[in-house]
Order: sequence, then structure tokens, then C-alpha cells
Amino acid sequence: MPTETVYGLAADAANARAVAAVYEAKGRPAFNPLIAHVADLAMARRIARFDSRAEALAARFWPGPLTLVLPVLDSAAVCDLARAGLDTVAVRAPAHPIAHALIAALGRPIVAPSANRSGRPSPTTFADAVEETGASAAVALDGGSCAIGLESTVVALLDMPRLLRPGAVTRAELEAVVGPLSEAEADAKRSPGRLARHYAPNAPMRLDADTPRPGEAWLSFGPAGSGPWNLSPAGDLAEAAVKLFAYLRAADRSGPTAIAVAPIPSEGLGEAINDRLRRAAGFVG
Ligand code: TXA
Ligand code: MG
Repeated sequence: MPTETVYGLAADAANARAVAAVYEAKGRPAFNPLIAHVADLAMARRIARFDSRAEALAARFWPGPLTLVLPVLDSAAVCDLARAGLDTVAVRAPAHPIAHALIAALGRPIVAPSANRSGRPSPTTFADAVEETGASAAVALDGGSCAIGLESTVVALLDMPRLLRPGAVTRAELEAVVGPLSEAEADAKRSPGRLARHYAPNAPMRLDADTPRPGEAWLSFGPAGSGPWNLSPAGDLAEAAVKLFAYLRAADRSGPTAIAVAPIPSEGLGEAINDRLRRAAGFVG
């Protein structure tokens, strides 16, 4: 199913067999839990315990690219396998008419990890989603290209507000609502998605490059950039986010010795873009 961030591989969250098929299609380790996508706040409140901070964030950013990790209330609505056995659940209300219609029609949450095979870049076009995991899907919904192109921001509200995954909602936007964010704990149980090489193309990556070397594919950025894969000639981070995964895939298909990437500013959306680039390069543990 398309969402405003990236395509997801969707299953009825209550149906353990369907959820198992999602893990299998992605080759995803079963200790890495899935996001339960809801139609609205009312559906979210039935499965997770909302405190005042969660209410405030949902009021400000839903429907939209923010995922909240909260204590689970209804552990059957999002089955154990989907939560990787945790007593917490990740919830998000997507701002995409097709995703919304699907969840509303089912009347209960739909889990949907990004539709890539585990460790690969997330698909942001219908063709990329079909190429990654389409063969295992009973139905594939074409929603065109994803408007945002980067995954949702994941924030845990269990003790201190913690940023588990930078994403389309920026740190500054979140802190304006809930105050300073703590970093994700190194403890893998708390942030199970933080695998070493993630969002990775086949070719090795060389980050913060000034210019490409012979044989390298070149992802440039800004007015001084060059080549077919300039993430944003205008130097606009939202545009770069939209293009990032599609250009990584295209650069990879050209069979380079490596993919060299120009420096991307780290403010605003740049935090999430640089996070994905470092993981694609295998630099984050
Ligand atoms: O934008 C998105 O979030 C996309 C679209 C399809 O909605 N989905 C997505 O799902 O990126 P996925 O499975 O690729 O990433 C979900 C992230 C993982 O890093 C996972 O570890 C984390 O959310 N997560 C899920 N449940 C969690 C929980 N209970 N505690 C901590 N992290 C959790
Ligand atoms: Mg993913």
C-alpha cells in the first residue's frame, strides 16, 4: 500500500499468519517489530495508552509521518509477532487517501513495514515496491510516487521522549511540542530497528565526497552539483528527501565501483537524510 512516506507491505495486524508472511517476504528478523497504521486517533486509543504528550503530538502531526511508541492496551489487535513480543506498540495514522481508505474499510489496524526486502532502501515508487516484495503481495495498490520519500519519525513515549528514528517530522518540530528529546538507547531491545547496514544499495557508499572518482556513481546536491542524480539543484532538503531512495537505486543499477555522495547539511530534514545515508554506508551500529 502507498503511504505519504514510503510504500508499505500491509497485513491485518490481528492476523498472525498474515503478519508472519510479511516478515517472510521481507526477510526481516522477527525481533524487529512493525508499525500499526490506524485510520484515526480513536482507533489508536483503542490499542495504545495515550498520555498528554502522545495526545499533543498526535494532535499536531496526525495524520502524518510521525510514529509513536506507546504502552500496548489491546495485545490481540496488534498480535505478539507484529510487536516482536514487546509490551509496547508503534502507531501512526498515515496521511495518504489510499492507506486511510484501506484501514477504515478493514476497521482495525494494519501493520506495514516499508515494502523493501530487509536491509534495502525503502521503495518510494510503485515500480520499486513491486520489484522489492510485490511477488509476495496478494494485491498491489498503485498510489504513484510517495510525496515525502523518507520514513516516518519514530518517537518513544515510555519514559523520557526518545527519538528512535529521525524522519520526516524534524527534531525541532517535535521539541516545540514535547521539549528536549533524549537519544535512543544503545540497548537494542529498545530500538530494535537500528541494525548496522540498513537502507543499503549493493554498491559500497562513500559519504561527504567532494567529487566522484572514476567508476563511481555521483549523488550531488545543490547548485554546484552535477550529473543525472542531483538530489536538489536548488539545495532544498525536502526535495532531496523525495529523491534520495530512488536515486540510490538508480545509481546502484548503473553498476558503479561505489556511490559517492556530496555533503548534505544536517539541519531540519537533513538529520534524517544523513541518518539514512550513514546506515546505507553501514556506519551506524
Ligand atoms: O514511514 C514509515 O514509517 C513506513 C510506512 C510504510 O508507514 N513504515 C516503516 O516501517 O518505515 P518499518 O517497519 O520499516 O520501520 C518501523 C520502525 C523500525 O525501526 C522498528 O524497529 C520501529 O519502527 N518500531 C516498531 N515498533 C517498535 C516498538 N514497539 N518499539 C521500538 N521501536 C519500534
Ligand atoms: Mg524499513
